[in-house]
Amino acid sequence: MDRHTQRARRWFSGIAVGATLTLGDPVSAQEMRPRAAEPIPEPQLSERLAELVPTCLACHGENGVPNYAESPIVDGQHEGYLFIQLRDYKNGARKHEVMNEVVKDLSRQDLRELAAYFAARPWPRVDQPPVADENGVVERLLAEGQCRECHGADFMGDGTMPRLAGQLTAYLVSTMRAFRLKERTNNAAMGSLLDTFSDEEIEAIARYLGAL
Ligand code: HEC
Ligand code: HEC
Repeated sequence: MDRHTQRARRWFSGIAVGATLTLGDPVSAQEMRPRAAEPIPEPQLSERLAELVPTCLACHGENGVPNYAESPIVDGQHEGYLFIQLRDYKNGARKHEVMNEVVKDLSRQDLRELAAYFAARPWPRVDQPPVADENGVVERLLAEGQCRECHGADFMGDGTMPRLAGQLTAYLVSTMRAFRLKERTNNAAMGSLLDTFSDEEIEAIARYLGAL
């Protein structure tokens, strides 16, 4: 266990007494390994960020590959989108017991700096197995949901629109289910889009996006 993980475990056992946390299964090295082994270029760290960032990395991954399947990739995600999510975790519009706790004492300026920091790191490439879209079922769902109209032709997102291409499949499943079940309600547009999608359809979409 590296020192960041140790630090997060300690910090974590402090807040998590009696709570059921759903972080997903630990990601095995085999399942998800960054394609490039070179060290990633580090954006400049202020003293304040040097204090905050190690905690984030314990779950979201030193090299950008998350340590838990239900922790999303945040490295290289768009700054505007990251800031909105951090703000929404802080004001409670987006609920998640871990992330609500992580940001509760941070200032707006901290959240801005964290969003800029993670956006400046490179998106890690994780090899999630490609899937065959049998009979074009996934393409039909993506067209029905007009997903590309907002997320972009290649699902790369922009500004406050998240990148979905190459995101962890397990996280995509969990967050799309949360939209459908109205557990994630911080965005009205996404809130109703997945209403008619079944679990199987959500999983098929997630596998497709994860492999992009
Ligand atoms: C103990 C593990 C843990 C720690 C520590 C942690 N996160 Fe998270 N983070 C998660 C999980 C799990 C989620 C998914 C939550 C959900 O489904 O809403 C998440 C979600 C996020 C998201 C939303 C991303 C998206 O695609 O919507 C952002 C942004 C984020 N974390 C940033 C941070 C930052 C910045 C820190 C450090 C200040 C941090 N996290 C610390 C586990 C963690
Ligand atoms: C009207 C525009 C719009 C359409 C159409 C749309 N989305 Fe989104 N989507 C968004 C916005 C905006 C967000 C960010 C919400 C927020 O800020 O919390 C988002 C967030 C998401 C997320 C969460 C990403 C993350 O990192 O947590 C997923 C997954 C997603 N959309 C999948 C889809 C799929 C699949 C479709 C098609 C069925 C779709 N979206 C159609 C606007 C749209």
